[in-house]
Amino acid sequence: MDFNKTRYIPMSRRRRIYEGKAKTLYEGPEPGTLIQHFKDDATAFNAKKHQIIEGKGVLNNRISEYIFQHLNDIGVPTHFIKRLNMREQLIREVEIVPLEVVVRNVAAGSLSQRLGIEEGTQLPRSIIEFYYKNDQLGDPMVSEEHITAFGWATPQEIDDMMALAIRVNDFLTGLFLGVGIRLVDFKMECGRLFENDMMRIIVADEISPDSCRLWDIKSNEKMDKDRFRRDLGGLLEAYTEVAKRLGILVDQDRPAGSGPVLVKS
Ligand code: TMP
Ligand code: ASP
Repeated sequence: MDFNKTRYIPMSRRRRIYEGKAKTLYEGPEPGTLIQHFKDDATAFNAKKHQIIEGKGVLNNRISEYIFQHLNDIGVPTHFIKRLNMREQLIREVEIVPLEVVVRNVAAGSLSQRLGIEEGTQLPRSIIEFYYKNDQLGDPMVSEEHITAFGWATPQEIDDMMALAIRVNDFLTGLFLGVGIRLVDFKMECGRLFENDMMRIIVADEISPDSCRLWDIKSNEKMDKDRFRRDLGGLLEAYTEVAKRLGILVDQDRPAGSGPVLVKS
């Protein structure tokens, strides 16, 4: 398939497949593809808290593109094919495994609360956790016993997801360390890709400051969605700084009221 020749279907004529909290999925130009559209909606605590942050979707589209493209390049399979425009990317259609895979390197958030470990404490090793994706239940943490008993994933798929999670964690830790950012933890989602008679587990969804905890190495300043969850303000500025450090945006002030200034189209 030549994805460079993909026809652009006007938004009004596209079939919407799924409406999430921060993203919408539309039918793609070829069978087996979808278009992932990044919205400006920020939610926390299972959407009890909600706000539109103008420009967030554009930044997450670019940051997630950068991460997924690099993962593809080092042989970590993902659903990402290519970015289409400011807010959209072309992706492979997968069957989403109904689990959130969280990898933690440093204690923070719910781990600190649950186990009484002070935020910022380096963990003895990276810890992988699974949460069942169900907003009504508040995404409860589950064990491998629950996952296999209820058929959300097989033992082999759990192994595959853990292997992917470790590779993604190693890549992201180094990537962010190189630009003065500590990867505290992150969440990823996996999907089943069906190709011919084969099925394999690949990385799906997004990886962005919405789904990671990123702290500045020197100041410990939060550069992620905790700025919104904890009412710290400056979310857009923090995400812009992450993008700039990764070399995605030109280091220049943007005129008030305009969107982020993009270099590459
Ligand atoms: P937690 O400490 O609240 O469990 O979050 C762990 C990591 O997972 C953190 O980087 C934020 C991310 N996360 C999501 O992306 N979506 C979610 O629904 C939750 C609860 C956490
Ligand atoms: N729980 C998610 C978060 O805090 C967002 C949401 O559930 O609305 O990242």
